[in-house]
Amino acid sequence: MNAPIRVAVTGAAGNIGYSLLWRLASGDCFGADQPVILQLLEITPAMDRLKGVIMELVDSAFPLVHDIIGSDDANVAFKDCDAIFLVGSRPRTADMSRGDLVRANGPIFTGQGNAIAAVAKKTVKVITVGNPCNTNALIAMANAKGVPARQFTAMTRLDQNRAHGQLSDKAGVPVAQVDNVVIWGNHGPTMYPDVSWATVKGEAVRGNFDEAWLNGEFQDTVADRGKAIIVARGASSAASAASSAVDHMRDWWQGSNGRIVSMAVPSEGWYGVPKGLVFSFPCRCEGGDYEVITDLQLDAAAKAKVQENIDALLAEKEAVADLL
Ligand code: NAD
Ligand code: LMR
Repeated sequence: MNAPIRVAVTGAAGNIGYSLLWRLASGDCFGADQPVILQLLEITPAMDRLKGVIMELVDSAFPLVHDIIGSDDANVAFKDCDAIFLVGSRPRTADMSRGDLVRANGPIFTGQGNAIAAVAKKTVKVITVGNPCNTNALIAMANAKGVPARQFTAMTRLDQNRAHGQLSDKAGVPVAQVDNVVIWGNHGPTMYPDVSWATVKGEAVRGNFDEAWLNGEFQDTVADRGKAIIVARGASSAASAASSAVDHMRDWWQGSNGRIVSMAVPSEGWYGVPKGLVFSFPCRCEGGDYEVITDLQLDAAAKAKVQENIDALLAEKEAVADLL
């Protein structure tokens, strides 16, 4: 057994938290031989609800859970953390876009960025889930002076998983036989699920699927899935979001075994994306680190979509310039 690591989850009494915490506690994310100390952050009015969640975690008797700390103070919740899931923030309603949340949720990430810099390990791995997640990650990163920018990421793995699900459904094969869809850009309506390197049962998707479907219904379904779930469920996706957050952090922590995974990470200028924008790129993970795959040849459609996403993220950045 390894020494326990400290894992923080914000918004721990919310819907995503209610799925996520059980997966972190079971070993699904950090491994079956990796004990965890869960450090859970909520706002003060939700502390009673958090108490109830902690009671249930205790009652689940997970052997890998060495301690559970609940707090409404980020300086307590992030203390000495190895991994942080920034979930806490409000979800949109069906009449809103994710970007509409930026002024409501953005300010949460200034204080949390400060707290990460003050008390977390400098090697902490941060995944931002709260929407609009790319720009909230940017805000947290900008406010966490002294923590390397590449420790801050945002989640587009749910979009990749949705794309794999659509291809598996269309081909009538288990999703395990689908690989390497790349999500470019923002976790927003401009996101581009690119199948140029994707395979189903080891065969290229391009040439084996109807191009009109790939360029139309497939892309629209992936990009609009969050809203479709809000309309159908009356609430934002939660279990699938938690599961995808586990996938993202598990691969970052334990490696992606050569598979391409989509992660929104601060650009170093790759593919013409301005330095510092938190943008979804194709990555591979190994040895507790991620590497952006920087040498893929983009076709004209992909280049245009990358530019659309740059424009969307620059507009979000502009809207929160005072928080950076
Ligand atoms: P929820 O309303 O069920 O829970 C959010 C929780 O966050 C609440 O318990 C609330 O008290 C808490 N919270 C609010 N402000 C906080 C703060 N400053 N510090 C700590 N906790 C705080 O919402 P949810 O369904 O869990 O969704 C959370 C966020 O995740 C939303 O912004 C949603 O849009 C986003 N989301 C992102 C993705 C993605 O793919 N990136 C997918 C699904 C949901
Ligand atoms: C999703 O993609 O399901 C989440 O980002 C929630 C939303 O607002 O769409």
